Amino acid sequence: MEFRGVSMADRRVEKGVKRGRQFEIEVDGETIVAYEGETIAAALIAAGRRTFRRTAKKKHPRGMYCGIGLCFECMMVINGIPNTRACQTLATPGCRVETQEGLGRWEV
Ligand code: FES
Repeated sequence: MEFRGVSMADRRVEKGVKRGRQFEIEVDGETIVAYEGETIAAALIAAGRRTFRRTAKKKHPRGMYCGIGLCFECMMVINGIPNTRACQTLATPGCRVETQEGLGRWEV
């Protein structure tokens, strides 16, 4: 299904957009499609995921807010590194992304 040139299946604009190479990333154990030049946040939004992290005390969901690296609401664990801003990190083939709980923990 399509609405004004945006596919409802993956929420990406289809008409008139030339994308880079397609590849897959892993998000909380689920495989998601991403494209070269796309941020992890863009790939997640296109896949319909809105929760990027949960707050430390009340576990409230948080997701992309500013989209320009200022608010830190999009912090995730990316390739084992917590507190990484998904809106400022490019997706790369095979990268592992996890929803961050609270302040996050380093994998040792
Ligand atoms: S959405 Fe604000 S820093 Fe990423």
